[in-house]
Amino acid sequence: MTVLGNSSAPTTPDEPTMRAALLRGCRAPSVHNSQPWRWFFDGARLHLFSDPERQLPVADPEGRQLVISCGAVLDHVRTIFAALGWHTDVVRLPDPDHPDLLATIEFRLWEDPATGSTVHAAAIERRYTDRLPMLIPERWDAMTPVVLREMAATHDVDLDMLPDSARARLATASEQSAALHRYDMEYQTELRWWTGHDRPADGIPPAALPTETELARVGVARSFPPVRHPAHRAEAIDQSYLILLSTAEESPLQWLRTGEALSAILLECTVAGWATCPLTHITETSAGRALLQGFTTNRGNPQVLLRVGTAPENDRPPATPRHPLTEVFTEHP
Ligand SMILES: Cc1cc2nc3c(=O)[nH]c(=O)nc-3n(C[C@H](O)[C@H](O)[C@H](O)COP(=O)(O)O)c2cc1C
Repeated sequence: MTVLGNSSAPTTPDEPTMRAALLRGCRAPSVHNSQPWRWFFDGARLHLFSDPERQLPVADPEGRQLVISCGAVLDHVRTIFAALGWHTDVVRLPDPDHPDLLATIEFRLWEDPATGSTVHAAAIERRYTDRLPMLIPERWDAMTPVVLREMAATHDVDLDMLPDSARARLATASEQSAALHRYDMEYQTELRWWTGHDRPADGIPPAALPTETELARVGVARSFPPVRHPAHRAEAIDQSYLILLSTAEESPLQWLRTGEALSAILLECTVAGWATCPLTHITETSAGRALLQGFTTNRGNPQVLLRVGTAPENDRPPATPRHPLTEVFTEHP
């Protein structure tokens, strides 16, 4: 790795580069497409804040998924800067008095960034959440779990491949989670606020949600308000592989790192040509968490479940919306 130290060289990306990188980085996944992040550039350092107004008080009362989402955008943005030749040094949770400040980034020119960053950055626009049945991920081999596990370990996150026998139990847990929430007015109100509407800047539009029959053919899935559209992948039963991310502790730092690991793994899968779907509904109940914990090698804290599989080409929903950059980015005047 060569990081340049030339005193006449720029010390931060210029404004158009900064804006373009943040705009692309904000394509990161977030729970219910809530995009609970804000960026501030002070002229030398870039700061990532969580936005508590975008937290889901019912589904995510501790802000765990909010911080995981922010971790995902952190990794997306750093990946883009790396591909543009900027090394980023990150201090996570730098100020105990300001827990909303999740990360502070300093820049250094980077002459020969890791090629992985360029490849991952190029996958950002291709990545999306696929909630339909998938086929077995093509070209998956014995090394794939090793590579993905290594990627997660870089962020202090454990990764377990779940056995096929887990599927039925997780499908039952998904049904139980849906049943538990069916008459929970607060949960339903929150879910409906974020999903099933064509809103210009956030939430999950109807075209990205499964119909009831599609949901039944996936099994391990969060239940969303019912939508109607022509059947997709009508004959397919889900054969995706299930991956579980977990952490040794339950803390904002480990949640942030989970989001970073999630981002890297999603982009790696996208590069391999696979479709992905992060799932957290089972982690929202104590029974679900206990079930998932049983699948972790280290009896860790389950954070995110992931479906990975092959989807037919040209069968993806339109891209989900994002906030304009002006709403999530400010800089020192
Ligand atoms: C922390 C986190 C939790 C998520 N949980 C779920 C989930 O339980 N079910 C689901 O279908 N999608 C889930 N997603 C995917 C988001 O809904 C998705 O990223 C968002 O709607 C943006 O769409 P996109 O990924 O297609 O860009 C989750 C994403 C994140 C980062």
